[in-house]
Amino acid sequence: MKIIHLSDIHIHSSSILGHNPIERFSLALDHIKNNHLDSDMLIITGDITHQGDLASYKKFDEIFTKANLPDHLNPKLLIGNHDDRKIFKNYFTKIPNDKNGFVQYDIEIDDMRFLFLDTIQENSHAGHYCEKRLLWLKNKLDESLKKNQNVFMFMHHNPFPLVKLKSDLIGLVDRDQFKSIIDNYKIVIKHIFFGHQHITVSGTFLGIPFSSPRSISHPLVPNFSNEYRLGYANTDPSYNIVLLNNDSVIIHSEDFLKTDISWFETTEPGSL
Ligand SMILES: [Fe+2]
Ligand SMILES: [Fe+2]
Repeated sequence: MKIIHLSDIHIHSSSILGHNPIERFSLALDHIKNNHLDSDMLIITGDITHQGDLASYKKFDEIFTKANLPDHLNPKLLIGNHDDRKIFKNYFTKIPNDKNGFVQYDIEIDDMRFLFLDTIQENSHAGHYCEKRLLWLKNKLDESLKKNQNVFMFMHHNPFPLVKLKSDLIGLVDRDQFKSIIDNYKIVIKHIFFGHQHITVSGTFLGIPFSSPRSISHPLVPNFSNEYRLGYANTDPSYNIVLLNNDSVIIHSEDFLKTDISWFETTEPGSL
């Protein structure tokens, strides 16, 4: 199975940190169209818009429709701290919600379950995951445990500090509660995918592998001090390509603005 993981589009009518998010989203979709039409799923982990306004969601839709991707690549959408849950739900009426109205849902394919989480709270850039959402997650993970499924979890916020606790000002506030649930199900959770910080990062959490692509709009760069964690630079945006195999999960980073590509004529190892 091949999945496109794209994050932090930040649709906005003007440029952000010197970049045009609308133009970059169009370029990312063009790149997908030219290179990854054999993918099975397209997942966008939040911050679809910059200010959560209706006009930006419509713009997102307009650009996506214009790209004319095949139906099976209609995106699985998550919301981020720059989105507005109410406006999102009113506009994207086909995206499921849980019984409490959070934009959380799941998809089962063969022996796999894909979980899409809602980690936002109004008027906060940090992530939140309340008791109701935790219960939803716990129930889904219980079901997967019983069915012996492999779980792939998608969320907007990083559920643990990516550098130091002191500087994790906009990560998941309820990180301890989240961790205690995840810890009980790490046997079934095969990967955690998130966005939010706009940096390329990967590793393991409680033994569970995780990955995050840069924003496709305005990528950031990490700083490893307590005081200032992120900055911006002249660096490429990216999205990730996820290859799910029987015995491996492989993540490739696609710098979709790359130019002047020269492909080797042979793949023989000696040629490198
Ligand atoms: Fe973002
Ligand atoms: Fe975010």
